[in-house]
Order: sequence, then C-alpha cells, then structure tokens
Amino acid sequence: MSDLSSQQSLLERIPLVRQELEADLSRVSDADSLEAFRLKHMVRKGTLQTLVDELRTVPKEDKPAVGKSLNELRTFAESAFEELQERHKKTVVHAQVDATLPARGQHAGSIHPITQTLDKIIDIFASMGFTVADGPEVEDDAHNFGKLNFAPDHPARDMQDTFFVDHPTRNDLLLRTHTSSVQVRVMESTQPPIRCIMPGKVYRNETVSTRALAEFFQVEGLYIDKGVSMADLKGTIMAFARKFYDADAQFRFRTSYFPFTEPSAEVDMSCFLCKGAGCRVCKFSGWLEICGCGMVHPQVLTNCGIDPDVYSGFAFGFGVERTLMMLTGIDDIRLLYQNDLRVLKQF
Ligand code: PHE
Repeated sequence: MSDLSSQQSLLERIPLVRQELEADLSRVSDADSLEAFRLKHMVRKGTLQTLVDELRTVPKEDKPAVGKSLNELRTFAESAFEELQERHKKTVVHAQVDATLPARGQHAGSIHPITQTLDKIIDIFASMGFTVADGPEVEDDAHNFGKLNFAPDHPARDMQDTFFVDHPTRNDLLLRTHTSSVQVRVMESTQPPIRCIMPGKVYRNETVSTRALAEFFQVEGLYIDKGVSMADLKGTIMAFARKFYDADAQFRFRTSYFPFTEPSAEVDMSCFLCKGAGCRVCKFSGWLEICGCGMVHPQVLTNCGIDPDVYSGFAFGFGVERTLMMLTGIDDIRLLYQNDLRVLKQF
C-alpha cells in the first residue's frame, strides 16, 4: 500500500514540480539567477534528479507511465534551461562591450609612392610647359634602338639586357628598355616645337638586387625647336631639380655617352640631405647622380623626319624608383614593389 501511495504522490507531484520550475524560470533575468536555478533544479542533488531517483520505488507496472511523465518534465526543464543559458551568455558578451570606446577606424587606401612621385614629376614639368606622351611597352627594334643610332652590334641589343618577344611572324619585337622609344614616335608624328615628357614602364634583363629591378619606371623628356642649346638643357634640368629635390642645389655636368645624344652628359646634384658634406644617402661623396641627358643627335632627328639644319633639341631621362630612393633614404629598391603596409603607410 505504501508503494501505491508513493507512486500516486510521485505522479501527483510531477505537475506541481513543473509549476514550480516554470515559476523559477520566469524569474531568471541574468546569469546569476540562471545559476541559482541550475543549482536548485539541474544538479545531481537537485529537484529533477531527486524525482528520477524516486522512480526506483515505483512498482514495475506503473514505471512506464511515471517514467514518461518524468521524462517530459526533464526535457521541458533542460530545453528551457539551455535556451536561457544561450540568452544570458549573449547578454554577458554584450555587457563587456564598452560602447563609449572610439570606433576602430577603417584603413583608407592611398596612392602608391611611385605614382605619387610620378605625379609630382609630371606636375613640375607641366608647369614648365611640357605635355605627356605615351607609347607601347612592346616595341620594335627600330623605335627602341635603330632610329636612336644604336649600331646593329650595340651590346644593349644583346640578350643580356633586353627581353625579346617571341612572335610567330616577327623577330624584331622586344619590351622597351627605355622610353626614348616614345621620343622617336613623337618626333615621327609631330613637327617642332616639341616639348614633352615620357613617363612609363621599361624592362631590362637584369638581376634583381637592392639597386636594380628588371622592370621599373622612367621619365624621359624631349625639347626640340629652332635654336635650342645646351644652356636650355642645363636650365631645364636645374629648374626641375630645384623644385623637386632642393631649392639650393648645386650641379655638376659630367661628359658621358649615349648613342642618341651628342654631346651627352650625366648630371650630379649636391646632396640635398648633407648639402655636399657627405652622408649615407650620397654615400659620403656629397653628390647624387640624377639623370642622363644630351643634345639630340642630328642623325636621330634625320631618322625621325626632322631637319637638323633647322631644328635642334635636348633629351634627358632618369629612373623614378632611384629618384624615390634618394628622396626617402629607402636603401632596397625591392621594398617599393612588395606592398608591405609598414612601408606603404609611410607615404
Ligand atoms: N635613355 C637613357 C637611358 O635609358 C636615358 C637618356 C635619355 C639619356 C635621354 C640621354 C637622353 O638610360
């Protein structure tokens, strides 16, 4: 008989316990009250497990009905508990966010230092009346070498220096080794006065090192008119360099050789950093080499359809990456192409 009463009381108590659970659940408002709920009902010695333990005392024939009812109660309690656990976990995470902190900024992209340098160079020459000319990067031998007076056996045509292009029907194509090829194209298509610069990518079959790349940017310039002299060349280069590098720069023109200019020169500028005293940037010489230049060879003018008895002109050219290295003190040219944000963010 006592078995019967305990069975009845267990069955009777299940709905009562459920009411209690529901009341306790409705009072859970944060992680702390949820923990109190867990300790009261869900642990080994809690309400639910105590009821389950009592199932042992229920007569065999009644176990299925009592067990089913108990299972329903447990499923209800566990799913309600899990749901609250999920909700209050999120609440805790939210509570840790300090909404008064300043927002994390988005990183804006910026113009690459090489492009910035090119833009600055173009601006300065534009202010002196130079326009910008463009031409193909895949060139033919005539525009890159032939019309510029390179002898057929000139070493620059050698495989060592030039990337030749495989083509099914032509064997004279190459990646331009300088933008002087654009000078030829401008002279072929325009009668003087000509005053323009040719910025662009050039290619040379060189071993990449701290000082050299196999592809890099050049800016070349060309000025052709009646009576243009070496004095105009010097004045233009000095005016550019004083704007671009250093207003107080001193200059040194050294004789040099290029097949397409006569006479030819290389220009050194007093180091803008140490003003000639000697430092790391100028390798303690006090001088920085800034460009190659010269008076356009009369034969080149003739090759391009301009009469050398009427017109004369000058040309110059320099590498943009080296220019940037001098300006910034970057001592490995490859850094300019690795897109390492630690480098790029400095510009
Ligand atoms: N084309 C030369 C070079 O690539 C530079 C240069 C241009 C020199 C014009 C003289 C005149 O090195």
